[in-house]
Amino acid sequence: MTGTLSDRAATIMARCDELATHSEEPDRLTRSYGTPALRAARDAVAAWMTAAGLAVRTDALGNLYGRLEAVQPETKTLLLGSHLDSVRDAGRYDGPLGVLTALAAVEGLAKARRQLPFAVEVVAFADEEGLRFPTVYLGSRALTGMVSADLLALRDAGGITLAEAIRDFGGDPAALPGAQRDPAELLGYVEVHIEQGPVLEREGLPIGVVSAIAGQSRFSISLSGVAGHAGTIPMALRHDALCAAAEVILAIEELARATPGLVATVGQLQVEPGASNVVPGQVTFSLDLRHALDTTRRDAVATLEARASGIAAARAIELDWRLGTENAALSCDSATLSQLAGAITAAGFPVRELVSGAGHDAVMLSRLCPVAMLFVRCAGGISHNPAESVTTADVSVALDVLDRYIAELATTSG
Ligand code: GLV
Ligand code: MN
Ligand code: MN
Repeated sequence: MTGTLSDRAATIMARCDELATHSEEPDRLTRSYGTPALRAARDAVAAWMTAAGLAVRTDALGNLYGRLEAVQPETKTLLLGSHLDSVRDAGRYDGPLGVLTALAAVEGLAKARRQLPFAVEVVAFADEEGLRFPTVYLGSRALTGMVSADLLALRDAGGITLAEAIRDFGGDPAALPGAQRDPAELLGYVEVHIEQGPVLEREGLPIGVVSAIAGQSRFSISLSGVAGHAGTIPMALRHDALCAAAEVILAIEELARATPGLVATVGQLQVEPGASNVVPGQVTFSLDLRHALDTTRRDAVATLEARASGIAAARAIELDWRLGTENAALSCDSATLSQLAGAITAAGFPVRELVSGAGHDAVMLSRLCPVAMLFVRCAGGISHNPAESVTTADVSVALDVLDRYIAELATTSG
């Protein structure tokens, strides 16, 4: 391996900084699917992959791959990576850290002219966050063949369909079946990611392994009342959709606070017609609900839908409770977990297992192959926020662990 670990980690950090300059908004980092900003970030990563000597390609959805071939052709492929899209007003590590740590590991192998008994591919997914279209894991979903006609017909806030956005991004909806991966061809998927929580920092650890990823349900909820004049309609005669929404949102918060491990977030709210002197006629809001146990999550959904129906009925308001996307909780692959744990021990650190409340591309990849993840300590547990931060020293531990994991896998599968 050429270059010291800390030099290679410094390169990862510098590249994260560079990718953070590619944004669709001038004063903050926002990079959603199909935008020129995402294309610029992808082009930068493609150039680094090419310079590293990897075979570079994109698929029909716009995911990017850099491949290092195995000693023998026709062998299995280890996938390493994460996503390049972001939330609105994002930090610079959620996603790119995983892509660039994977690239640094494979770049190290390429520079050392090390060929392994399996191929290694760095993958940079084009959409994980679902910021532009009401879905998640779109990039990794393409590998599973589950980008359905329904999904392709989804529209963004500007009315552009996903199919159109794919074409604008240089992809081809008709060619999506070609993006599918054959499970028989995949050795596994390992993703490095910022922890996005406070546990590792609290315990003074630079790195952890993810044993499970919480399941999640996302809804679009609409309440339709009657819009009217703010000055003339007496309070008792109103069907105010926003007041009904406020009641539902507080009921959501109340249930989540009372249910250990349940987290529920209303992050988007649209009020129509949206004038200060008009009683709100319609409100649409999002609900993101997560729990490590699928039964608890499903029970909470049923309770909340019933609560919302009751609140709407009492106000003679119509409720439309629509499921957007749902993913079951995932247990990571135990063999991969113990290999990663072995690499952490060899790097000189205790093994800390964590459950991820955040969703990750690994959830989709688990439909195809064994998956596991490494978490890197996150300053203050802050993420989905520009203050998101990791240290070069911790990134160098993650890279060391990933190098060791790959080397060990090469000896055991050789
Ligand atoms: C992705 O970051 C998510 O968990 O929403
Ligand atoms: Mn995220
Ligand atoms: Mn992420």
